[in-house]
Amino acid sequence: MSPTPPTGAARARPVRIAPSLLAADFARLGEEVRAIEAAGADWLHLDIMDGHFVPNISFGPALVKTLRRHAAMPFDVHLMIAPADPYLAAFADAGADVISLHPEAGPHLHRSLQTIRGLGRKAGVVLNPGSPVALVQPVLDLCDLVLVMSVNPGFGGQSFIRSQLAKIAALRAMIDAHAEAGGQEIALQVDGGVTAATAAACVEAGADVLVAGTAVFGQADYAQAIRALRG
Ligand code: DX5
Ligand code: ZN
Repeated sequence: MSPTPPTGAARARPVRIAPSLLAADFARLGEEVRAIEAAGADWLHLDIMDGHFVPNISFGPALVKTLRRHAAMPFDVHLMIAPADPYLAAFADAGADVISLHPEAGPHLHRSLQTIRGLGRKAGVVLNPGSPVALVQPVLDLCDLVLVMSVNPGFGGQSFIRSQLAKIAALRAMIDAHAEAGGQEIALQVDGGVTAATAAACVEAGADVLVAGTAVFGQADYAQAIRALRG
C-alpha cells in the first residue's frame, strides 16, 4: 500500500510573521520599525484606514515613505480605504512591496489587481469575516496573497473569530489546487486577534503569514513575542 501523501495542512511550510505597526508607539515609529526588524520580523504590516471604509483613521503614503528608509524587510500594505484605486500609485511609490485591498472597496477588483501588478508590486485580496471565499476565486491568477480577516477590520486588540479557520482551510485547498495546476505562488495571510494562543490553529488550517499587532508591539520583548507566534 502506498503511503498517504501529506495534506495541505500537514505539509511543512515556512511561517512568516508580519507585525502590524498599528500597535506600535506612534511617537517613535522609526525606532519601532528598526526594533521589530532586528527582533526577527519577516514583513512589516501597515494598516491604512480612511474613517469611511472602516470606522478608524490611521496613516497614509507619506508616513509609509518616511518609514521605508528605516528597514529592508518587505512592506505589506493593507488598504482599508474606499475608493482604493486613486491611491495605489502613491503606495507603490512610497515603497510598498505588497498592496492588498478589499473587494468591497470598488467595483473593479480585477482591474485594481492588474493596476497593482502593473506598478511592479505584489497584489493581495482581503476577505472580511462576512465575505465569502468565492470573491477570490475568479481573480486568483492575479493574486500574490490572500488575506483572511479574523476580526472585523478597523481596530487592533480584538478577539479572534474562530469561524474564520474554516475559510483559511478552504483557501489553502484552493491555493494548493491552483499551484498544482501550474499557477503562481500565493501567500495565505491571517490578520486580527492572532496571538501565541491562536497562531497554531491558523497555521494548522493552512495560513503561512501571520499578522499580529498587540501580540508583538504590545509586548515588552519583541523577539520573544515573534518566537512565541512561530510556535
Ligand atoms: C485590523 C488590522 C490589523 C490589526 C491587528 O483592522 O487589519 O492588522 O492591526 O491587530 P491585532 O493583532 O491586535 O488584532
Ligand atoms: Zn491589517
